[in-house]
Amino acid sequence: MRSTLLCGFFAGFTAAFPVDFPHALITRQDIQTPINSSLPNVTIFATGGTIASQGTTNTQTTGYQVGLGVQQLVDAVPEILNISNVAGYQISNTDSGSINETILIKLAHAINEELAKEEIAGVVITHGTDTLEETSFFLESTVNSSKPVICVGAMRPATALSADGPLNLYQAVTLAVSPAGRNRGTMITLNDRIGSAFYTTKNNANTLDTFFSTEAGQLGVFINQIPYFFYEPSKPVGRVVFNVTDVEDLATVNIIYAHQDMDPGLFNASIADGAEGIVIAGVGAGGYSATAALAAEEAYNATGIPIVASHRSSDGFVPPGEGEFTIASGFYNPQKARVLLQLALTAGYTNTEISEMFAKSYPTPV
Ligand SMILES: *[C@@H]1O[C@H](CO)[C@@H](O)[C@H](O)[C@H]1NC(C)=O
Ligand SMILES: *[C@@H]1O[C@H](CO)[C@@H](O)[C@H](O)[C@H]1NC(C)=O
Ligand SMILES: *[C@@H]1O[C@H](CO)[C@@H](O)[C@H](O)[C@H]1NC(C)=O
Ligand SMILES: *[C@@H]1O[C@H](CO)[C@@H](O)[C@H](O)[C@H]1NC(C)=O
Ligand SMILES: *[C@@H]1O[C@H](CO)[C@@H](O)[C@H](O)[C@H]1NC(C)=O
Ligand SMILES: *[C@@H]1O[C@H](CO)[C@@H](O)[C@H](O)[C@H]1NC(C)=O
Ligand SMILES: *[C@@H]1O[C@H](CO)[C@@H](O)[C@H](O)[C@H]1NC(C)=O
Ligand SMILES: *[C@@H]1O[C@H](CO)[C@@H](O)[C@H](O)[C@H]1NC(C)=O
Repeated sequence: MRSTLLCGFFAGFTAAFPVDFPHALITRQDIQTPINSSLPNVTIFATGGTIASQGTTNTQTTGYQVGLGVQQLVDAVPEILNISNVAGYQISNTDSGSINETILIKLAHAINEELAKEEIAGVVITHGTDTLEETSFFLESTVNSSKPVICVGAMRPATALSADGPLNLYQAVTLAVSPAGRNRGTMITLNDRIGSAFYTTKNNANTLDTFFSTEAGQLGVFINQIPYFFYEPSKPVGRVVFNVTDVEDLATVNIIYAHQDMDPGLFNASIADGAEGIVIAGVGAGGYSATAALAAEEAYNATGIPIVASHRSSDGFVPPGEGEFTIASGFYNPQKARVLLQLALTAGYTNTEISEMFAKSYPTPV
């Protein structure tokens, strides 16, 4: 049994710079001697990803290897030392498909500790783009600070012609030390755009212009490296923050993808495999076939585990009332709904409390 909690690395990659967890801090003095104490202090948490990758030629943009360490990321962009005093932690060095709960929890613990220090202006997380929206949403839901938490990655490896990592990192540090970045939760910045971790999703597997949220829009953009916000600071409606101080692992939640002729046996199979909650990436607004619905209801009746209905479309809203036993995800996409459900189950929420938590993001009729 999980205790009531108020409230992740590295796969076997041939990393050029193998690392162990937890890693010592690369101090400001290591990076800059002497440090300029009138500059704001930023801490970079490096986890791997394309931003830390090298291909064998400058035209290679797939199939490259993760391996650059945090020191090399900073070395590539010495300009950030003109705007901040940088320190770094190598949290992991992996592509983001291999980021797991152990890494996520360690990241949240380290960031909360760092931001609690008065001399720290903000933090930057360098990360693979593939699951960046999950890590950033996890941080949005577990970091309790008014200071900027900036998640950044790259779509092209460091060795590519027109690599996007260096400027993305420069912009991320700029935002992390900017007073304009405060009280906006966790943000994702890539390709000159600033988005809320709550809504931003990766839309294209290959192109630079991949992170955006269609309905909620962007929070801001960089104009000549200056962050420009369209709105005053605000937090997403329905945002929930968990205290994960004592959390060591997360509840298991699987996503089942709906499609024509979907296999109704997936619900029981998933539960038999240890799922404590299920998210359905439904067709339309949380739908799935009648046979699958019957199987889901049987599985629910037999176990009582929460089943959240989300949407496989890249954007949209799942309204409550589609099924008696399912919880509507509202605006959360399947991967974000999964993170939220993991946190709620880990915190010991009942199904009623989980329903109420998701309902916080539903529109209120006037
Ligand atoms: C997460 O990945 C790290 C590095 O590969 C590993 O040490 C850790 O055991 C993994 N955690 C889980 C829960 O699998
Ligand atoms: C330290 O940073 C401040 C603020 O940006 C700047 O005005 C000053 O010139 C810097 N000092 C040195 C020695 O670089
Ligand atoms: C940055 O950190 C150093 C020591 O770590 C401190 O002396 C300095 O005041 C900090 N800068 C700001 C702007 O807080
Ligand atoms: C950074 O500062 C150095 C001197 O410390 C200066 O030569 C360089 O032009 C500056 N770079 C930027 C981008 O401001
Ligand atoms: C977040 O911080 C605020 C104010 O510092 C505090 O009141 C609140 O309890 C904290 N929430 C969590 C989940 O840590
Ligand atoms: C978060 O949980 C820890 C450990 O239980 C506790 O010491 C701390 O006071 C909590 N923080 C808040 C803001 O509730
Ligand atoms: C799933 O398991 C329950 C409980 O064992 C059983 O009643 C139900 O028939 C199973 N459903 C499917 C589709 O296999
Ligand atoms: C699930 O349980 C409810 C409430 O007891 C019942 O009305 C419903 O028929 C059951 N569904 C299935 C598929 O067994």
